[in-house]
Amino acid sequence: MNREFWQARWDEGRIGFHQDEVNPYLQRYWQALNVSRGTTVFVPLCGKSRDMLWLRDQGHPVVGVEVVPRAVEAFFAENHLAATQQRRGPFTLWQSEGIKIFQGDFFDLAANDVAGITAVYDRASLIALPPPMRQRYAAHLRAILPGKMNVLLVTMDYPQAEMDGPPFAVTEQEVAALYQDYFKIEQVCSEDILAANPRFQEQGLSRLLEKVYTLGPC
Ligand SMILES: C[S@@+](CC[C@H](N)C(=O)[O-])C[C@H]1O[C@@H](n2cnc3c(N)ncnc32)[C@H](O)[C@@H]1O
Repeated sequence: MNREFWQARWDEGRIGFHQDEVNPYLQRYWQALNVSRGTTVFVPLCGKSRDMLWLRDQGHPVVGVEVVPRAVEAFFAENHLAATQQRRGPFTLWQSEGIKIFQGDFFDLAANDVAGITAVYDRASLIALPPPMRQRYAAHLRAILPGKMNVLLVTMDYPQAEMDGPPFAVTEQEVAALYQDYFKIEQVCSEDILAANPRFQEQGLSRLLEKVYTLGPC
């Protein structure tokens, strides 16, 4: 699951994870986090998610990170947002009104890059990564975030033996193992979405749960 893998997915248009509509769980559960308007939200592995527009429209400056240039270009072009680009260390930093995206590798982000963050919206990052990378991802996220904060986490779970990822299955136990020493974790939703996802039925899945967690300071 390296840069070349994701580059090929975007080049070939194999981006079934992308949603044209704003994620319903974000709209349903964001208020529960009590994140103050005007404070900055981090969206790791952001793709060209329209959820960033929704967060901006709630009054949150948004900071994303995405490794594939085509995805970042598409985000700004498809949403008719004029953006500036500048080199920032290993990244190209794209900026428009209320939204900036670091185009580059999440694992190259430093604490300084996300210094003003007060909350995280994480959809489909963990499920994009194989198990050892998930541990590295969670450790890096914890290392760069400026203190304890609220996180809205959207993942999927299914019998991993039935399909190769991505998306990978992420169990409740794994979410606990990754984050319970640092956050109070609450699972706020678990919904079987298999019937609405024929492409996963065709892969032979018997069950596909979408799970939403809120993580807050202990
Ligand atoms: C499953 S998609 C989720 C995208 C987005 N969160 C959404 O909800 O549509 C994972 C995204 O992470 C990007 N990605 C994968 N590894 C990355 C890394 N190490 N650093 C930054 N982006 C990465 C991929 O290119 C892809 O766009």
